[in-house]
Amino acid sequence: MQDSRFLQACRLRPTDRTPVWLMRQAGRYLPEYRALRERYSLLDLCRQPELAAEVTLQPLRRFPLDAAIIFSDILWPLGALGIRVSFAPGDGPVIAEPLRTPREIERLPAEPDEAVFEATGGAIRLVRRELPSSVAVIGFAGAPFTLASYLIEGGSSRTYLATKRFLLEQRSAWERLLDRLAELTERYLAIQVAAGADAVQLFDSWAGALPPDLYREAVLPWTRRIVHAVQALGVPVIVFSTGTAGFLDVVAETDADVIGVDWRIDLDRAWQLIGTRAIQGNLDPAWLLAPREDLRVAVRRVLERAGRRPGHIFNLGHGVLPDTPPDAVATLVAEVHAWSTLRTVE
Ligand code: CP3
Repeated sequence: MQDSRFLQACRLRPTDRTPVWLMRQAGRYLPEYRALRERYSLLDLCRQPELAAEVTLQPLRRFPLDAAIIFSDILWPLGALGIRVSFAPGDGPVIAEPLRTPREIERLPAEPDEAVFEATGGAIRLVRRELPSSVAVIGFAGAPFTLASYLIEGGSSRTYLATKRFLLEQRSAWERLLDRLAELTERYLAIQVAAGADAVQLFDSWAGALPPDLYREAVLPWTRRIVHAVQALGVPVIVFSTGTAGFLDVVAETDADVIGVDWRIDLDRAWQLIGTRAIQGNLDPAWLLAPREDLRVAVRRVLERAGRRPGHIFNLGHGVLPDTPPDAVATLVAEVHAWSTLRTVE
């Protein structure tokens, strides 16, 4: 079977045109998503494979995307360790009982409840059955630092001070926590791969809070451990982070097949930093709010910086914003495909 365009790019092979998908391509900017959310909570969507599959497929019905990312949330698998997460409208996720002491980490259950993972596995099986092999199905998980930051802060944060204090004051407990999160994530992703995920993305959305040295010594080894475990299953891994433009070369030490970059650096400079490796990104999602002709120009600028080198997967630098008009996404996808096809023919 011919690999999808997306998978070819993960493997640094040339493609007929640049593959494109968008982080948060399923979500609040789509009226059909909002309609479902009137009847079901976010956790319902994560829990019920039929609903998760439906939400995953919504953007694929509208746009000729090259990949579908399975619908869930990075905090969902924490339920397997008995951690209760809620999503308050407008406030983001809340963990009612954050982990603040080494003792609380020791008290986490020894064995994760794998039934929690099965919801995602079930959704992947449904989606994989529904889509042609030309469209890749991407599984995902949060990377250990970003997961730990939610567990320790109890929610989103601007400074990540509680997380940094924990890391600086309680290094061995921190390492123990990251061990537990890496182990949990490896099992969660193995279930996703067995269910048919063609690739996996690790979201380390808040890694940019750390200075490079701390990232390298207190985070990188655990992320790399997960990357290697998934690669051993024969599936490529994307490591995505934000705010890491100053140390993308260190992020590349995760050994991920693809490095996802945010918009705070030009794509060609980012590519120089990560070396011979596939790259994913990196249009500022705010461009989707701009007049259409300006959006097209911005899309072309990213593509020009990639210069049709094999191994570019077009994406945003972070997720689609809720205010985005769906038509703008259509414009973006059409522009990526049209421009990159033209360049191949020349
Ligand atoms: O289409 C996709 O990209 C797949 C679905 C997906 C969700 N969350 C659904 C979701 C993915 C990949 C995530 C990952 C996620 N979740 C990350 C990493 C990526 C990133 O955005 O940096 C993080 C940090 C989270 C934690 C999280 N979940 C936050 C901070 C929030 C609230 C902020 C917000 O956007 O409202 C959520 C809620 C959440 N997860 C929504 C969706 C679609 C919001 C929608 C809703 O309430 O219906």
